[in-house]
Amino acid sequence: MNILILGSGGREHALAWAVKQNPKCDRLIVAPGNAGIAQIAECAAFDIENGSAVVQFAEENAIDFIIIGPEAPLAAGVADRLREAGLLVFGPSEAAAKLEASKRFTKEICAAAQAPTAAYGHFTDASAAKAHVREHGAPIVVKADGLAAGKGVIIAMSEDEAVAAIDDMFGGAFGGAGAEVVIEEFMDGEEASLFVLVDGEDVLAIGSAQDHKRVGEGDTGPNTGGMGAYSPAPVLTADIEAKAMEEIVKPTMRLMAERGMPYQGVLYAGLMIKDGQPRLVEYNVRFGDPECQVLMMRLGAQALDLMQAAAEGSLAQARVNWADDHAMTVVLAANGYPGAYQKGSEIKGLSALAEDSMHMVFHAGTKLENGQICAAGGRVLNVTARGESLQTARDRAYAMADSIDWEDGFYRRDIGWRALD
Ligand code: AMP
Ligand code: GLY
Repeated sequence: MNILILGSGGREHALAWAVKQNPKCDRLIVAPGNAGIAQIAECAAFDIENGSAVVQFAEENAIDFIIIGPEAPLAAGVADRLREAGLLVFGPSEAAAKLEASKRFTKEICAAAQAPTAAYGHFTDASAAKAHVREHGAPIVVKADGLAAGKGVIIAMSEDEAVAAIDDMFGGAFGGAGAEVVIEEFMDGEEASLFVLVDGEDVLAIGSAQDHKRVGEGDTGPNTGGMGAYSPAPVLTADIEAKAMEEIVKPTMRLMAERGMPYQGVLYAGLMIKDGQPRLVEYNVRFGDPECQVLMMRLGAQALDLMQAAAEGSLAQARVNWADDHAMTVVLAANGYPGAYQKGSEIKGLSALAEDSMHMVFHAGTKLENGQICAAGGRVLNVTARGESLQTARDRAYAMADSIDWEDGFYRRDIGWRALD
């Protein structure tokens, strides 16, 4: 099987690493890829958000299966173009990808499916939005409707903060994404993510994870794309997972099919859990990054069979073979991230690390320059390990992180603290 993966981050490195181990994989190409991906796959450069360019590349290279990593090509309809061309693709249609691209759309689907989530209102003008805030009080959550690279959510602790956020959004701080604003009830509890494969009809849970969004230890400081993650999430017990599947995932997926937008791909359900009850915070239409890294570490080669089953519509027959294990990933980021940071510094000590089914360094933002691995982004490496306990996985991951020699980078030392304390 010739396989093409779209994307360039740690998520796509982890997907490539898992797919590559499956004996079905003959040729593996990642577009655009990065320096770490280039060590295990061919990399190709073309515009991955342009459906015709992706179709042309796939046809010229006799690609049998395309896996779409990030949300942008999905929101741009790349999966639709590939399916129209008769190609096998893992990832939802543009219509179904609205579950991530529009918060209002997701809230309406949840309401129609009676799936537990925060109460909300949606607004296209500032004065009505502000009146809603004054009526409901703080804390309250203000969200830009559209894709805002994870930055369009303000948890306002006071009414004034919420009002300022509304002015920012309608003032264009998030461009077109803020032309509509969703205002939600603040939900208290512990967050965890559930990853579910969907083939349009059937669903299959493939694992849970928790990430650390804040840049600083003790979960302090500004939000990031994620500074580390671990799987499974202890807070998502079998009972709560079953509730999330029955009350949230299945009814919303059924409704999507009934409305002519069957969902196919991975559904990332961000859940808030309190007193044994999960509520939906958000859906994403792709794997989380860095959550994918810990999921792939645990699933290994079978990830390809499972994604293929989702794409072919045969999930009803698919099963996950679980090992009773744990995985953790620690993100090495450039000093200054998520603010301004330098690019281009050399990272040493990587080639001395043993990489095997228990230890992997996934590259998130790296480039090869004059034969050296150099930093090329904010989140740069995802040091990932597996073990029979979370503590073992953690010890392995930090032993690797400590032996990497990169002066311009930093990492949190407390990934997994909630699960281990
Ligand atoms: P989202 O982009 O919708 O996932 O929001 C980003 C983060 O904001 C989530 O992961 C939560 O930590 C937080 N968040 C979003 N909505 C709510 C809510 N209604 N109540 C509490 N926290 C929220
Ligand atoms: N780690 C959070 C995300 O991928 O959205």
